Amino acid sequence: MDIYNNHKKLYLAALFLFIVLTIFVAILPALNNQTNNAPLPGSKPLSRLEEEGKDIFIAEGCVACHTQQVRNLDMDKSWGTRPGIAADYARNKRVDVWRNTATLMGSERTGPDLTSIGSRQSSSDWHMLHLYNPRAVVPGSVMPSYAWLFTARDYAYPEDVVVTVPEQYRKGVTGKIVASHEALALVAYLKSLRQTPLPIGKPTPVFLYGKDAAAGSLPQTKGTATPGLDGAALYASNCQSCHQENGQGLVGAFPALKGSKVVLDANPDVQVTIIMKGYNGRVSEGYGIMPPVGVNNNLKPEEVAAIVNHERSNWGNNSKKVTVDQVKKIIASLKK
Ligand code: HEC
Ligand code: HEC
Repeated sequence: MDIYNNHKKLYLAALFLFIVLTIFVAILPALNNQTNNAPLPGSKPLSRLEEEGKDIFIAEGCVACHTQQVRNLDMDKSWGTRPGIAADYARNKRVDVWRNTATLMGSERTGPDLTSIGSRQSSSDWHMLHLYNPRAVVPGSVMPSYAWLFTARDYAYPEDVVVTVPEQYRKGVTGKIVASHEALALVAYLKSLRQTPLPIGKPTPVFLYGKDAAAGSLPQTKGTATPGLDGAALYASNCQSCHQENGQGLVGAFPALKGSKVVLDANPDVQVTIIMKGYNGRVSEGYGIMPPVGVNNNLKPEEVAAIVNHERSNWGNNSKKVTVDQVKKIIASLKK
């Protein structure tokens, strides 16, 4: 054949094949990816501060212990309302010429997945204290302390964010513990992390391999007053991070529910309102602001009643139980 003897033809034939292959295996799939993986319509780009926070997240190596991916497996259900899809990562751009895209999906889950940490934990006070010393809010935590993101000073400027650290976690540090710009940026980034709802009409991917018995598999703990729902487990996942398992809160940061006037009040109006709308009635005593946990976590009236009754019947508290109907009425009146 002539082609084997004519080097020009041989070269052109090889080049032609190479270009055709490149179009099919690289260029067309890339174009396809670009059109299919645009950011979701409801998603927001990171602000300047959040972007800085992401860089600190990368620099501090948080990805070594935290993933940001909700797999389509039943066991991942607690980390998001739906499994993650490629479009969730479409806003991640190359850091710069030298450094590749940091998707921060992670591969190791020593700590919880952070895909939705912004909606699960929206309180800056909590994040600050947790970064300063994770043990202050989660007694058994193995997360390292990031105390160097804070400075101790004798004075604080009005614009400073001062973290209230209980005495036993200050390790001898005196004065005011002030969040650095890095800490503020990192917390802003953490609070920005949440799943964007899919556009209406788009099929939602499902979680696979769920156990049929999953609903009944939670350990039944004492103090459960609402049949079918475990108040202790609901308290643990919604309230315990701040008010602590023993209901005693943290001095100076989160008030105690043990012996709390609000919890002991036979009328549950205020207690339910606090869960649904958050609370700032005790800021002057040095407490932070409680976020509207009930709304943020989409708590149903049955769940709110179970939590309320757990608080009313534990840690030595003994006040009148509430019914789901009472809670429904209070929640309905809040919407007016
Ligand atoms: C050595 C592993 C490790 C590293 C490194 C680490 N964490 Fe954690 N993290 C954990 C563990 C374990 C928990 C669960 C216990 C707790 O809440 O403290 C956790 C919990 C958290 C939580 C609360 C999650 C929830 O669902 O309540 C946040 C937020 C968090 N980490 C942020 C960070 C940030 C930001 C960094 C980097 C500055 C970081 N972590 C570095 C192990 C780690
Ligand atoms: C992010 C931390 C945080 C979480 C999570 C949280 N709280 Fe609070 N809670 C607070 C803070 C801070 C206050 C004090 C607010 C203020 O300054 O008035 C408070 C106050 C309260 C009070 C009033 C106590 C009193 O005696 O004044 C009740 C009751 C309460 N919370 C119940 C709950 C319940 C129930 C949940 C879970 C559904 C919950 N909280 C979750 C931080 C939190």
